[in-house]
Amino acid sequence: MLHDTIHHSVMASRTHIKKIPPDTLSKEILSTREAATLLNVTPQTIKNYIYAGKLPALKTPGGHHRIRRIDLERFGFSSETTTLPQASAEELMTTCKQLLASLVATVEAFIKALDARDIIGSGHSRRVASLCCSIGKTLGYSEHDLDELRMAALLHDVGKISISDAILGKPGILTDQEYFLVRQHPIIGENIVASIDHLRHLAPVIRHHHERFDGNGYPDKLRGDGIEKNARIIAVAGAFDFLQSELPFRPSQGKDAALKEIKNNAGTQFDPDIVNAFEHSLRGLRS
Ligand SMILES: [Fe+2]
Repeated sequence: MLHDTIHHSVMASRTHIKKIPPDTLSKEILSTREAATLLNVTPQTIKNYIYAGKLPALKTPGGHHRIRRIDLERFGFSSETTTLPQASAEELMTTCKQLLASLVATVEAFIKALDARDIIGSGHSRRVASLCCSIGKTLGYSEHDLDELRMAALLHDVGKISISDAILGKPGILTDQEYFLVRQHPIIGENIVASIDHLRHLAPVIRHHHERFDGNGYPDKLRGDGIEKNARIIAVAGAFDFLQSELPFRPSQGKDAALKEIKNNAGTQFDPDIVNAFEHSLRGLRS
């Protein structure tokens, strides 16, 4: 989808970019040069067509050719469809990749800015993105699907940007009121991501990364397969990173204890298939 939306934008921008002057497009009678511009060929090609009798033309008293626009339509010209010369599929793919890389770099810069505020969660999004990609590979995700998952994982906590420093950096257990505010971050993140054209399709995943497999999560109490697969993956990776991180109010549990905790909650908090894939991916990371 990320590739698709960017690809569509490239195609759309290509369709709208015309080097043809608007007055040429609206003319009914054209010079050889203008006809050549519309057909994207050289003036000599137009003349050759005229001399060969393939393209009807009138002659001015000065001996110049004039061509009716309607006669160009036999050669595929339409003011609706005229575009720049077709870029090759390879060129389009290169452009898409460049745009995607630029988008990823922008998101990463944005996440770094978020990390600078969120001392406790610093680096969380990037670590979760990395873990998610390992799970995705274990599940047989394509490169395209891995890009989608990675982007959603990088952005999953972006809604925390709206939470005050006092709460984000609080070295202790949150009050009910503070916890209520923190629980708004999936919805706020959804709104932020939904406002960006190329990322809008990721918004449901952002919204649902704190749903639980048993339906006791938030904000929508979705359950099982009703939760987007990528949101279920982020839930596992995010919880693992949280458990193994050292926080001001408790030490790190360590990787093994964190994995045990995740496995203990398979089928309740987490999708058991994803937990299984996660365990496999961790083995791959260790070997
Ligand atoms: Fe979160």
